[in-house]
Formats: sequence, structure tokens, C-alpha cells
Amino acid sequence: MYLHGTSKINVANRLEIGGVDTTELAVEYGTPLFVYDVALIRQRAEGFKQAFENEGVAYQVAYASKAFSCLAMYELASELDVSIDVVSGGELYTALAAGVDPGRIHFHGNNKSRDELQMAIDADIGCVVVDNFYELRELEALCAAQRRGMDILLRITPGVEAHTHEFISTGQEDSKFGFDLESNQVSEAIRLSMASAHLTLLGIHSHIGSQIFETDGFVLAVEKVFEHLGQWRAEEGFVPSVLNFGGGFGIRYVEGDTPLPPSAYVSKLVQTVKTLTQQQGIDVPEIWIEPGRSLVGDAGTTLYTIGSTKDIPNVRRYLSVDGGMSDNLRPALYDAKYEGVLANRASEPTTEVYSVAGKCCESGDMLVWDLPLPEVQHEDVLAMFCTGAYGYSMANNYNRIPRPAVVFVENGKSQLVVKRETYEDLVRLDVPLKEKVEL
Ligand code: LLP
Repeated sequence: MYLHGTSKINVANRLEIGGVDTTELAVEYGTPLFVYDVALIRQRAEGFKQAFENEGVAYQVAYASKAFSCLAMYELASELDVSIDVVSGGELYTALAAGVDPGRIHFHGNNKSRDELQMAIDADIGCVVVDNFYELRELEALCAAQRRGMDILLRITPGVEAHTHEFISTGQEDSKFGFDLESNQVSEAIRLSMASAHLTLLGIHSHIGSQIFETDGFVLAVEKVFEHLGQWRAEEGFVPSVLNFGGGFGIRYVEGDTPLPPSAYVSKLVQTVKTLTQQQGIDVPEIWIEPGRSLVGDAGTTLYTIGSTKDIPNVRRYLSVDGGMSDNLRPALYDAKYEGVLANRASEPTTEVYSVAGKCCESGDMLVWDLPLPEVQHEDVLAMFCTGAYGYSMANNYNRIPRPAVVFVENGKSQLVVKRETYEDLVRLDVPLKEKVEL
């Protein structure tokens, strides 16, 4: 069994995270419950930052908060001295409410509304990562009307797509995000940005994919950007002071996943940039990255209580848990794989193979198809590992199932950071027909 971060099996044969017995967490807070190993988040953030320090370049590590956002997570990110990438007014609102330094916030998204752009201007955030011409015009107009300024990056589609071990160079990328590199859209966007009296173009952003285990895709993305730098300098007089290469650094979900340590991704990126800047005779720009999954993914574990079981002789043994696609959409959406263990009998031999079903009214609501476990009993607590990224953040109320609670654990203590949704919460926004007013 692979244990992440501070997770271990204690003398009582139970799974412990951050020095806290998870079966006690299940009793105290109920299930399903997201448990975050804060020490592991700290370690990852340090790993990325230290790697940049070792390379001796100016940098920003921005937490891609779409992976998991709540007030406490933004507070923790601030404490860890990382910047924040937000992709909506909701994430921006939460980050600001958590007291994040607005100057450290970067705003992403392919369809930011006028209201969202206005929020960014009002809060005077660090930069807007402009995705398209419409947004460029909108932001310029808003800033002009209010005599405000805004730093921007331009998001480009570098024509590199990377996923785990494979990457493909697509040349022209068919993506909803960013300015297309090959068709000269980027040059046009650079020209417009530089002509703006209100926008300050800091640099270029690219993001090549998710759950990446190799550095080749990043190297190719850097090379693609540098292929065009000469032209941008010659034609537009533009030399970037920031290059942001996005996120996508992989984590180990299951056996066979072989991510690199944060330092390996960072040093390869930085070294490639250094070599190419030297070749082109320009200064090394600030290098920014945006890890999401690799900061919080394997720090998160979901605790479920096992309820019903169903044995189909010679076919399959199902066990059902008290959550499912309502708190983890990833298996249904991406066929994502997970490992898990019985939290209350963690070192017992795994003699059986179970298929773990959620409780939603949908056959596709399966969390794991083949999970080796001991013979389970009702009320056992199942811990599913690596649910920290895109688990709670994609949780939903399908079947009107309340969203779980979230706790942080560290040094033998637990702290509730998101309350469990109640049935009252579920009807909070509903307007009953009996309240209808006569028109
Ligand atoms: N930066 C940009 C511009 C992004 O689009 C993303 C992720 C990230 C950073 C962070 O990527 P990470 O380091 O977390 O891989 N829901 C999917 C993942 C969607 C990722 C979208 N963009 C999943 O559950 O796997």
C-alpha cells in the first residue's frame, strides 16, 4: 500500500493522517469527509519555491485554486507565500475574502464577464491573463473609462498538448483557450496590448495540459515561445518580462503513475529558458508556474462509510459508500483511477476485490472498479487516496446529496475548514410556488 505525505498505519491498525486517527475524524465530523494533510501541501509548495531559488531566477509559484478552493485554502496559500490563480468571480471573491494580497492574484478564463473584469480592476489584482480579442477590448475599455491600469499576460496556445507520458506537437492547437500562435493572432494581440494606454503587457502565458510526468512537453512549449520572440521583438518591440508556463505537474494516483519531483520540472523549465535567452541575447524573464493538482492532490483523502453490499456470484462484489460522483466526479468524467484502504482495519490482508459504488441514482456512479480490500463489513470506513484536487471543487448536489465537510489535519490536530452542507442549505435558493406573487 502506498501512503502519501504523513499518512501511516498506527498501532491500532488504523489509517492516520497528520497524526490524527482517521476513524476518529469520521466519528467527529461524519462521512463523506475530505481530509487534507497540510504538511504535505507545505512540502510541495516549498519544493516548487526552493527549486526556483536554487536556479537563482525571479519567479512566482501561483496556486491554481480551481483544484481546491475555500477560505482556509487561500489563507494557507498566503501563509505559504504563493500567488493565486483564479478563474472566476467566485474564486476571486473567495480569495479576497480570505485576505489574499490582491497583487498576488492572477485572473484566468476564456470568457470573463464584464462584471468579473470590473471586480479585478476594483480589487487591483496582480494581473489579468487575457485570453482573447474580445476580452482585450473589454478590459481596455473598462480601464479607459475609469482611468485605471492593469498588468496583463497574453495566454497563447503553443500547439503542444501533454498528458502523462505523451505529448503531441499539434502545430495549430484546436483549443478554446488563448491566442493561436501559428496564425499570428499573438502578434496582433501584442500590438494591441502595447498600443493600449491602460494595459501593461508583462508577458506570455501557456499551459499545455494536466497530470504530466515528463519534462519534454514543457521544453517544447518553451521552445515554441522562443521561436516567436525574435519576431515579436523585431516587429512589435516586445520583450517579455514574464513567461508563465502554467501547471500540469503530475501526481501519483495509482501504482504505475511516476511523477517527477517538483524540482525536476522547475529546473528543466528554467534551464531551457536560460539557454534560449542566452542564445537570443536577452535577459532571463521572470518565470511563473501554476501548479494545482501537485500542491493539493495527494494531500487529500476522502473518508466514506460503507453501507450496502451486493455479491453477484462469479461476477462482481459491489460495496456502496455514502458519497460518490457527487463528491468525486473524476472517475465518471475521466475514467480516473484511485486506490484506497479500510481506514479502521488498514493493515489487514486484502483477500477480496470490490467494486466501489457511489450512492447516486446512476449506474456510472462507480468510484473504483477493482479495489483489493479485506472482507468488508457495514460501517467500515473506506479511505480513498489522492482526492484533494478537483474533488471537492467539482462536487455537486446531484440527487440533492449535500456536499461533504472538509478538514485540515496537522501535528495531531484537526480543523474543520468547510462545513457539511445541510438539507436546509439545499433549499436555501429555492423559491416555493406558494410564494408566487400575482402579476
Ligand atoms: N493553469 C491553467 C491555465 C490551467 O488551465 C490549469 C488547469 C492549471 C494551471 C492547473 O493544472 P494542474 O496543475 O492542476 O494540472 N478537472 C480536471 C483538471 C482540469 C484542469 C484545468 N486546468 C481533473 O480533474 O483532472
